[in-house]
Amino acid sequence: MDSARQVVAFEDKEEMADFMVEKWRSLAMASVEERGYFAVALSGGETPVPFYRKLSVQRKGIPWEKTHVFLSDERFVPVTSPDSNFRLIRETLLEGISLPARNIHAIATDEPDPQGAARRYEGELITFFRLSRGELPHFDLVMLGMGTDGHTASLFPGSPAVNNKRLLACAASPPRGGHERITLTLPVINSAKNIVFLVNGISKAEILRTVVEDEPPSMPAALVKPEGGSLLILADRDASRLLKEYSLFEAKRGLSGRRR
Ligand code: 6PG
Repeated sequence: MDSARQVVAFEDKEEMADFMVEKWRSLAMASVEERGYFAVALSGGETPVPFYRKLSVQRKGIPWEKTHVFLSDERFVPVTSPDSNFRLIRETLLEGISLPARNIHAIATDEPDPQGAARRYEGELITFFRLSRGELPHFDLVMLGMGTDGHTASLFPGSPAVNNKRLLACAASPPRGGHERITLTLPVINSAKNIVFLVNGISKAEILRTVVEDEPPSMPAALVKPEGGSLLILADRDASRLLKEYSLFEAKRGLSGRRR
C-alpha cells in the first residue's frame, strides 16, 4: 500500500464523522499556524452531511475566522436549487458557523454557462492562492466522495475533464445526463496537502474495493494520488467489507490493528 495512503474503517457513519471533526480541527490548527489560513475544498452528496452537521457546532480550537471554504465541484444550478452543493454545504455547515463572506468561495452558477463559471472560479483560485502562470494551488484539505461508477468531484469516467491538465477548474457533463457540472481538475486535487475520501454504505463496497485494490486508471477516484500530500480514505463497516486490508478505528483505542 502506498505509504501516503491510509484506509480506515469505522463502525458507522457517526463514528466516522466524529473522527473527521477531530481531523479537521488538527489540520485547521496546523495550517493556520503554518501559513495563516486553512483552505479547504468540500464535496456535495449525502455522505459528508453527518460530518458537516457535527462540524457546524464545533468551536473549540477551530480558527473559523481564518478558514476559507471552496467547493470541490458544483452543479450548474442556482444556489437556491435543492441540487446545489453550495446550498447543501450552507445549510448543513456554514449557517452554523457564520464564516465571514470573504471566506466563502462558491462557484458562480449565475454565469451564462458552465465554462464561464469555471473560468470565474479559476480566477478566484488564482487570486486567493496568489498563483503565477502555470502554478497549482495547494489546498490544505480537499474532501471527496466516491460515486458507484468511480467518479469523484465531478470527474466522471471517460469525461474529457479527467484529462484536463491545463485548467484549475473546468466544466464537465455527467455521462447519464443531469446537471452540467464545474469541477476542480485532477492536478489541483492532487496538489492538496491532505485529501480525505468519505465513503459510506453497502452500495459503495464494490467500487471502494476496486479503487483501493485494483486502482483502474479508468476510474477517476483511483487517479487521486496526492503529489507529496496525504490520502485518507474513511469508510464505514458496510463500505469497507470487501477490502483485504485496512486500519480499524476503535473508539476507545483509536486506530488499531489491521484487518486482512
Ligand atoms: C456531487 C459530489 C459527488 C459525490 C459523489 C458521492 O456533486 O454529487 O461532489 O462527487 O461526492 O457522487 O455522493 P454520495 O455521497 O451522495 O454517495
